Amino acid sequence: MIKLSYDIKNYRNDLLDLVESGDTVIELGCHLGGTTRLIPQGCSIIAVDNSPEAVDEMAKLDVDFISGDVRRHEIIGEAFKITQSCDILAIDLGGGYHPDTVFKVFYIWSSTFKPKHTIIRNRGILEFFNSATGSGEEISCEEGYLETYHDSGIPPLIKEFDLWTPKLKK
Ligand SMILES: C[S@@+](CC[C@H](N)C(=O)[O-])C[C@H]1O[C@@H](n2cnc3c(N)ncnc32)[C@H](O)[C@@H]1O
Repeated sequence: MIKLSYDIKNYRNDLLDLVESGDTVIELGCHLGGTTRLIPQGCSIIAVDNSPEAVDEMAKLDVDFISGDVRRHEIIGEAFKITQSCDILAIDLGGGYHPDTVFKVFYIWSSTFKPKHTIIRNRGILEFFNSATGSGEEISCEEGYLETYHDSGIPPLIKEFDLWTPKLKK
C-alpha cells in the first residue's frame, strides 16, 4: 500500500496504522525523531537525514541513524548494508519539498528495498494524485513500490539527481 498525506498528523497516523511490531522501518527525513519516537518498540529502524541537528538527537534513540543526503547513491548503499528489504518506507523531506525529487527518492528507495507499505508526506504529490484522472487502464500496485520497476538492484548511478541538482556535483 502507498499512502500520501500533507498534514504531519495524517502522516504519523498512516505510519502507525500500518506498522507492526518487529517490522523493519526505513524513515527518510527523520529530523529530530518526532515520528521515529512513535514507532513501536521491537521494530528495527533505519533513519536518514542530512540535517546536522539530527545527529545528536537521533543518537539518543535505538535506531540505525545515517547522516546524509537520501539522493546520494552511497547513502542508499549504507542503508543496504544494514538491510536488503523493509516492511515500511516512510518519506518526509518536508511537506512542501519539491514533489519531483520526493517522487524520485520514493522510486529509487522503494525499488531497492521493496517495502510492503510506503508512506509519503508531500503536498505536490498529493495534489497531483487528487487532481489527476486516470484513463481506466488497470495499472496499480498492492505493495509499497511500483511494479513498473524492473528489478535491477540499486541503480549504479542516479544520473537524474545529478541533472536536476547541479549543487550535488563534486
Ligand atoms: C519536515 S522535516 C521531517 C519531520 C519528521 N518526519 C518528523 O516527523 O518530525 C524534513 C526533514 O527532511 C530532511 N531532508 C530534506 N531533504 C533531505 C535530503 N535530500 N536528504 C536527507 N534529509 C533530507 C530535512 O533535513 C528535515 O529534517
